[in-house]
Amino acid sequence: MNTILPGAPWLIAHRSMLGINKPYKVTLNGQDYVLWQNDRGEVFGLDNVCPHMQAPLSNGWICQERDTITCPFHALEFDGEGRLHREGKRDTQPLSRSLKLTVIGDFIWTYDNCEPRVPIPDIVQNIAAEYDFIGIAGEKTIRSDFLSTWLINSDFNHQNGTHRELFQIVQNQMTEFDKDGYWYQVKQESTRANNSLGEIFSNPVLLTLPKILKSTVEYFFPSVLVLYAESGIGPFAQVVVQYPQQNDRTKIYELIFGKFKFAGMKPLFRQSMLKAIDVVVEQDSMAIETRYPSQLAKIKLPNEEVMAYAEKLYKEW
Ligand code: FES
Ligand SMILES: [Fe+2]
Repeated sequence: MNTILPGAPWLIAHRSMLGINKPYKVTLNGQDYVLWQNDRGEVFGLDNVCPHMQAPLSNGWICQERDTITCPFHALEFDGEGRLHREGKRDTQPLSRSLKLTVIGDFIWTYDNCEPRVPIPDIVQNIAAEYDFIGIAGEKTIRSDFLSTWLINSDFNHQNGTHRELFQIVQNQMTEFDKDGYWYQVKQESTRANNSLGEIFSNPVLLTLPKILKSTVEYFFPSVLVLYAESGIGPFAQVVVQYPQQNDRTKIYELIFGKFKFAGMKPLFRQSMLKAIDVVVEQDSMAIETRYPSQLAKIKLPNEEVMAYAEKLYKEW
């Protein structure tokens, strides 16, 4: 496949996704890689194809003394540069390609070995410095191209259809739209109907959401977008991460941050919050995956200029 948006910085993992000395497989732009992290926090990334007989290295295991990955097929060992380790000796030349990574705090970025075209946005470090990390939610591969997946999060009319069941949003008003190159931002006010007791029982976090939910969505095309809102238990920030796996497969996950008013509330609402976000991502992916092939739209809704702006950024990359 052709590289999608070459030179874009992709946030391929949060450190907590990797574990310690465990292989973690990533598919980016049609290519499989294996990542692993040692107990000193160093992260390595390598082509997942073993240069001997092409077994997937991510099914192998890590040698923590040598920071190497061992192939599951014939147990050959490679370091993070792709050099073979044998009988206590290390080859000088790599046999396989490493994935160049930029690790900033807990965030693992890559340009997919392309020439950088836009800087890595510092928003995620800023949020991590200001908020508590709550957890990861909504991690999945959506059976869709990158642009369609990005566009649903720039679509300010889908809340009352796609997400009507969970949040009971009946109306959504966009109050501001600002843009500056690859950055754009929307402020919105969503009016919610009452949740049923059953919905509240299975998702107690719904109780903390006001009837008129004001939120800001800040986009750092094409790597991440952040939704900021205020709930009854304090402000939270949802970092939505996307990267292209294949032409028709897009990876999505969300990093959830919050500032709870009382520390004791974190365990109480953590699970419920992550679960609600899982549901949101499921609803979005259902909407994207069940669409028929695109045609020229015969109807226009208000606020679609945000989607048009994102589409322009994609097409003019
Ligand atoms: S295929 Fe990897 S060691 Fe043989
Ligand atoms: Fe959505």
